[in-house]
Amino acid sequence: MRKKVLCTVGTRPEAIKMAPVIRALQADPDFDCRVLATAQHRQMLDQVLQVFGIMPDIDLDIMQPGQTLTGLTGRLLIRLEEVLGAEKPDAILAQGDTTTVLATALASFYDRIPFGHVEAGLRTGDIANPFPEEMNRVVASHLTHWHFAPTRFAADKLLAEGYPAANVHVTGNTVIDALHHVAATDPQTGLDLDPSKRLILVTLHRRENFGEPLLRICDALARLVAENPDVQMVLPVHHNPNVRGIVRERFGALDRVILCEPLDYTAFVAAMKASTLILSDSGGVQEEAPALGKPVLVLRETTERPEAVEAGVTKLVGTRSEPIRAAAQELLDDPAAYAAMARCESPYGDGKASARIVETLRRDLL
Ligand code: UD1
Ligand code: UDP
Repeated sequence: MRKKVLCTVGTRPEAIKMAPVIRALQADPDFDCRVLATAQHRQMLDQVLQVFGIMPDIDLDIMQPGQTLTGLTGRLLIRLEEVLGAEKPDAILAQGDTTTVLATALASFYDRIPFGHVEAGLRTGDIANPFPEEMNRVVASHLTHWHFAPTRFAADKLLAEGYPAANVHVTGNTVIDALHHVAATDPQTGLDLDPSKRLILVTLHRRENFGEPLLRICDALARLVAENPDVQMVLPVHHNPNVRGIVRERFGALDRVILCEPLDYTAFVAAMKASTLILSDSGGVQEEAPALGKPVLVLRETTERPEAVEAGVTKLVGTRSEPIRAAAQELLDDPAAYAAMARCESPYGDGKASARIVETLRRDLL
């Protein structure tokens, strides 16, 4: 008998990383794949679902402007209880470390439905950093039946925490599946770029960077652009109002800085491909850019993705202005330093993660 698998997506990165899993389940006659959009993000989620041609079966439309963590979690749990009661799936999947994932894992546990965690085992070891994602991951792991770890390193973290080896599966990261899907379509940025200038691509959105750290990061970026006339910077501005306010105020009038709305995934992949250098506090970008041979300076104090740092293709530069500026300037000035980082090396998988996830579900459910 076909098994019903409910796949939950809430924010942009979850949709990108769940899209290959959803498409694989939809194409498989053994499974009835149902897609639940919590819509913790509205515009940024819809952008991704459109690129991958996914229509949610259920949409909770939960996002509120300036939502709080407690308010969002509470509203999600109440709505999820209704959905799980009506849908009665055989298994539930969610990806990553957002509030949507925490609430989905908890609601699944309360309803005694086995939960599969895609991208399991990422840890910084600091519960407050990234905030609140490290807590979300740690708690979700406690509630998980299938731990789909993207790397051996992540799987080992789970084993060290005592999770049974039979429940921990190394799959690769589904973001590489998504990247292959989009990269094959000859993506275009749709931006008015100056081909004579080197492109620095920037994304910013982490909660722990709001306020002072974000201002320091902006100072470093402004100096970089001012001191390098052959550089243009593209910054697609995340919808979070804590980011929008500061970034618009800081860069609104600067020459050679393109502030734009969040790019759809196809355009963003094109922008990564067109870039010389990426500065980002994003999780997903740390995984994608190395697969495209683009160096990433990670604008954070800590990362749960040490594989790329160890491979030398990303670098943790923190949130203080001068170290950020100096690290970027070195890569712009020193071809040897640049070449050492700009290696096409992907510690995060081979693009077949979703197939491995589906095979595990088939083996255990059918
Ligand atoms: C969320 C996740 C974070 C993830 C990030 C990916 C939590 C707590 N945070 O952070 O882990 O890395 O998404 O981008 O789960 N907004 C819109 N339209 C959108 C999206 C957001 O207007 O399409 C605005 C709304 O005012 C919303 C606010 O941004 O209230 C914050 O959204 P939220 O999902 O709570 O936090 P993010 O910072 O986006
Ligand atoms: N991304 C996108 N458009 C943008 C910026 C980022 O499609 O304008 C993609 C990016 O390729 C990556 C994901 O969004 O796959 C990262 O999302 P985000 O930084 O919001 O969240 P995180 O990965 O930090 O959780």
